[in-house]
Amino acid sequence: MSEDAKIKVTIDGKTIEVAPGTTILNAARQIGGEVVPPAMCYYSSLEGSGGKCRTCLVEVSKGSEKDPRPMPKLMVSCSTMVMDGMEVKNTTSERVLEARKGVVEFLLINHPLDCPVCDQAGECHLQDLAFEHGLSKTRYEFKRREFEKVDIGEYIKLHMTRCILCYRCVYTANQLTDSREHGVLKRGDAAEIGTFIEKNLKNDFIGNVIDVCPVGALTDKTFRFRSRVWYTKPVDAHCECTKCSGNAVLWMIGDEISRVTARKDAYGEVKEFICNECRFDKKDKSQWTIEGPRKISRHSVISANHYSKEIPKHTTLLNKA
Ligand code: SF4
Ligand code: FES
Repeated sequence: MSEDAKIKVTIDGKTIEVAPGTTILNAARQIGGEVVPPAMCYYSSLEGSGGKCRTCLVEVSKGSEKDPRPMPKLMVSCSTMVMDGMEVKNTTSERVLEARKGVVEFLLINHPLDCPVCDQAGECHLQDLAFEHGLSKTRYEFKRREFEKVDIGEYIKLHMTRCILCYRCVYTANQLTDSREHGVLKRGDAAEIGTFIEKNLKNDFIGNVIDVCPVGALTDKTFRFRSRVWYTKPVDAHCECTKCSGNAVLWMIGDEISRVTARKDAYGEVKEFICNECRFDKKDKSQWTIEGPRKISRHSVISANHYSKEIPKHTTLLNKA
């Protein structure tokens, strides 16, 4: 097959031609809309990410044109490559929706239901996932894991109880900074994010771990408990910066900058990582050139009042009401 030859894949009845080597998840993202499976650990700009959380499971109902047999087990769409003629079911598969409920139940086993006080509420991928696919109860009866909150460096606080061990922050520190001082320590149900011998996270770009964390496990100490995100007004702004592009989002409360984050796409992924100085130190409006209101394309509480996406048909809780 020549290098620019395309292969055909059909997801939830929608067909697209993609380059060989494309994963099912990325093919679905090229189609867009409801055919896109949720992804808690995959992050397109982080090498090695994916394959940890199982939220992106899909049903492959036809393997390929050459071998049309369905794949017997549900497949992880972030790491399974498409084959020519493959047919995939996401929200059109009862098996997938059922499995996703189980995955959410697993992710929530140790995760506290502290959304009312969590800084990530309103922009938390797990909150959205639980809303769309979760059950209102759990069958888990054993003791939950407990952790003290830990300061990891000058700017970041870790709430380990909220961590879903997606490894995104570890890959970010590995690939974006010149040294990584934290990682997943221990294994199995004892696994936890930790810093080796109580080291601080001091690299110039380490603040980006806050943006890549899909839940509220890594919080910005300059913003913690200052406001609910939906009370803030996000604006696109840029500044002159020698370390990063200087392109950021300022989250305003009146005339004050309450926090600075990188700009994220519809899947909540940062496209241009920003440095610590822009994120934590430039909290004065005069340091920025404001471009205009930020359009939040991700559907969540954060886009309330300015979002028009229909509620997905498979949303469990709403359909029951
Ligand atoms: S702290 Fe956040 S980004 Fe890091 S592994 Fe846990 S959930 Fe993932
Ligand atoms: S996004 Fe595919 S396994 Fe986590």
